[in-house]
Amino acid sequence: MLKPSYTLVLLLAALAQPALSHGDSVPQAVDVTGLPELPEEMATENPWRETDIDVMMKSVEIGGKGYNSNCARCHGLEAISGGLAPDLRFLEADAWGDEWYLGRVLNGYEQNGAVKMPPFSDILSQEAIWAIRTYIETRADDQELASRQGELHDLQASVEGLKENPENAAIVADRLSEVGSSFEAVSGAPKSITALDEAAYLLRSDPPRINAAADALLSVIRD
Ligand code: HEC
Repeated sequence: MLKPSYTLVLLLAALAQPALSHGDSVPQAVDVTGLPELPEEMATENPWRETDIDVMMKSVEIGGKGYNSNCARCHGLEAISGGLAPDLRFLEADAWGDEWYLGRVLNGYEQNGAVKMPPFSDILSQEAIWAIRTYIETRADDQELASRQGELHDLQASVEGLKENPENAAIVADRLSEVGSSFEAVSGAPKSITALDEAAYLLRSDPPRINAAADALLSVIRD
């Protein structure tokens, strides 16, 4: 009686090994400090799909961290799938997409008795779940970003220029937002959040965070 199940345990442990070798493998709670608290009852639609810029940027920041520590090892870094699991950027940013998202995140997914995706209902708070959703659905097309390197270089140079002339921060921020809004979210969400929006946001803080904005832009410059 004992033997087969013991063998099974060993087998399962062996099977689990390869997955455990990819970066952060242990599911991790996400620190949601800075996000508004949500009512206890689970929302059925992303409460932060259309929200003010402070909550939006916080949610993308926290969601990005939560995504990287819990989802990226299967769904790919920056939400770009390497083929191991579906590319989540394409999940529609609407009520249907949210229902599907929530179902998978809370319950996980099993096929023929094998856990393909673990459930996150005990690990992630509601705020973390929707922050990750916000991060995923605001991703722009990485190839389009990559193909507009010339523009990104020019913008980066204007941000660098602010180190000498910080009084122009508001003008550069507006330009960054304008170009940023020309990148559509792959999910069809109302707005994509790229490094351009992050840089614009940093430049609008008081005082403007010029170095951080320059660094944010460097993250999308490939050469
Ligand atoms: C151990 C690997 C693994 C991890 C970790 C993982 N997933 Fe998944 N996920 C999968 C696989 C495999 C599927 C495909 C299941 C199926 O066929 O529907 C999937 C499916 C999904 C789907 C449905 C996608 C679709 O297009 O149908 C969503 C949404 C999802 N995962 C979200 C997440 C989120 C959010 C996280 C992190 C909190 C996460 N997953 C962590 C493996 C994983």
